[in-house]
Amino acid sequence: MQKRKTNSLWSHNMLTGKKILIGITGGIAAYKIPTLVRLLKKAGAEVQILFSPMAHEFITPLTLSTLSGNPVLTDFHNPETGEWNSHVELGMWADIFLVAPVTASTMGKMVNGIADNLLVTTYLSAKCPVLLAPAMDMDMYKHPSTKANVDKLKEFGHVIIEPKEGELASGLCGEGRMEEPEEIFKIILDQLKKKAELKNKTALITAGPTYEAIDPVRFIGNHSSGLMGYSIAEELASRGAKVILISGPTHLNIEHSNIKLIRVESADEMYDVAVENFSASDVAIMSAAVADYKPVKAAPKKIKKTTKTPEIKLITTPDILAELGKQKTKDQLLIGFALETDNELENAGKKLKNKNLDFIVLNSLKDKGAGFRHATNKVTIIDKDQKIEKFELKSKKEVAVDIVDKLVGLLAS
Ligand code: C5P
Repeated sequence: MQKRKTNSLWSHNMLTGKKILIGITGGIAAYKIPTLVRLLKKAGAEVQILFSPMAHEFITPLTLSTLSGNPVLTDFHNPETGEWNSHVELGMWADIFLVAPVTASTMGKMVNGIADNLLVTTYLSAKCPVLLAPAMDMDMYKHPSTKANVDKLKEFGHVIIEPKEGELASGLCGEGRMEEPEEIFKIILDQLKKKAELKNKTALITAGPTYEAIDPVRFIGNHSSGLMGYSIAEELASRGAKVILISGPTHLNIEHSNIKLIRVESADEMYDVAVENFSASDVAIMSAAVADYKPVKAAPKKIKKTTKTPEIKLITTPDILAELGKQKTKDQLLIGFALETDNELENAGKKLKNKNLDFIVLNSLKDKGAGFRHATNKVTIIDKDQKIEKFELKSKKEVAVDIVDKLVGLLAS
């Protein structure tokens, strides 16, 4: 008897236990989704389909409920049973949320938080990686409004499955064709792999500024927002790492089941918590802008204004990164940051060596949009072998992906 050839794309059970939520919006490329659902189901995944109100104009719920084995959900409640379709539960249930095809209209709603249907509301509740496969006519895709929304969605940290060039349903030829289901399937596999990349690893992150008290009212601080460190913590957690985030005073908050947030105020407090947690960590990334000096003694009461010029005597704070560099074992990775204004590469290279780092992330205040008080950053990574990688100006979330990619590469080698 002739043996059946195994399709190289998938094998049975490779997605067993994985939950894939697929949102379908009103676009002709919806006809490709049944093939994707077949591939996912054959690989053992659980699939739940969500329709936007327009999706049923392009494909029938019956087709997709038959293939997925689950009723297709469109409304906030089921008029027959009277039951609510909980967007929060759906958002928490999914390991991956794919919206394909995603129209210009739905992307606009996602960017602006217009939660007027079950699909967008679920998107706002989703905690898992979000993949978006836009499909539309090329002029719509090229429109500055669409481009701005796509850029914003990338900034949010979502994966955009870029449409391909080719013949479009309008008869025109250009960019706008949704990616083929076999390719989307592979992208889903890659994302699931990424999610587990740092499973069983513990990462220690410092973020934000420190405040060094002068008296109960005043302090020495700096402009660090903490966004870079929080973005790294989130990226590490999304790849399965257990994260301990030690944060100086910031307005940011973070909620992720893998992240333990410890708030501190001064360099001394940050030092104590970092040293305490370092030995149990596989990786430490010190992105905090720690004050280099602190007043010798904080005045117990508010210092009164007088006609005399006050003098505040300063002493150095402990260098957390340098201390961790001394304690580091061969199984641990240590990463530092350098914010420089001149001789950037040379100074960062010296820090890398002196503090016994595996790599250092350099940002220069000379670069527009880099460093403090920006949602963007432009970094250069220098590693132990003096390999230098320069990156474009990107959102801090995207920079976090580059940093974690580098780290994952080092862990693998
Ligand atoms: O030497 P410099 O302060 O420029 O080095 C910056 C790097 O050192 C950053 O990674 C920062 O988080 C870390 N650092 C530290 N403790 C300090 C000062 C800086 O961990 N007291």
